[in-house]
Amino acid sequence: MSRSSTLPVVAIDGPAASGKSSTARSVAEQLGLLHVDSGALYRTATWLAVRQGLSEPAAIVAALDQAGITLVPQGAGLEVRLGGVTVEPAIRDDAVTARVSEVAAMPAVRAWVDRQLRDAIARAGGGVMDGRDIGTVVFPDARLKVFLTATPGARAERRLRQVDRGGDPAEVAAEAERLAERDRLDAGRAVAPLRQAPDARVLDTTGLGFAEQVAQIVAWAREAGLSAD
Ligand code: DC
Repeated sequence: MSRSSTLPVVAIDGPAASGKSSTARSVAEQLGLLHVDSGALYRTATWLAVRQGLSEPAAIVAALDQAGITLVPQGAGLEVRLGGVTVEPAIRDDAVTARVSEVAAMPAVRAWVDRQLRDAIARAGGGVMDGRDIGTVVFPDARLKVFLTATPGARAERRLRQVDRGGDPAEVAAEAERLAERDRLDAGRAVAPLRQAPDARVLDTTGLGFAEQVAQIVAWAREAGLSAD
């Protein structure tokens, strides 16, 4: 058995804009566990690559090693800092989002990120982690695995509402197309593709409110004996 089997971990995977990070944060707060947003590290790698004009995996990993990246506790989560300065909100820019699937497909970058993720969970003694491959690759023995999904239209609407660009059907259709393209790349890559673990519980949030989806995962986590108290 792997080291992770002894750690209380909730793995939340799913397609782009399915609400994983905000849901995982709230679940972690309610359970008194650490939240780790694995996508933030792939976004940090991509942001660094864009800023420094790098496209070779080895060069990106070397830049990550030299950048002085730290994960600093912030509320229930971890904030990614580079040289002591937060990388938010720069890592959420459209320019980063457009290239993140390409950088996340690089095995050397994935190995670097996986090391940070496993170290963070080991230091905290467990946690709630969201991503694409947490239940399949990073913590295949997580005590609870959830695959969070919603229709492309619902995901596109939520994403646009977050940035105050909701409403216009043509914009929703264009955003749904961008999300589908990112999912296609994330699901089609050779290493650690976006995939539902066979033992994951599926939660389709299309018709659910935020509080309902959080409550469902918290209930599953408690059933699985996961909580800080
Ligand atoms: O969750 P997000 O949209 O912030 O993730 C950004 C990208 O990072 C996503 O398109 C794919 C990649 N990613 C990944 O490959 N594996 C993870 N565990 C998390 C994110």
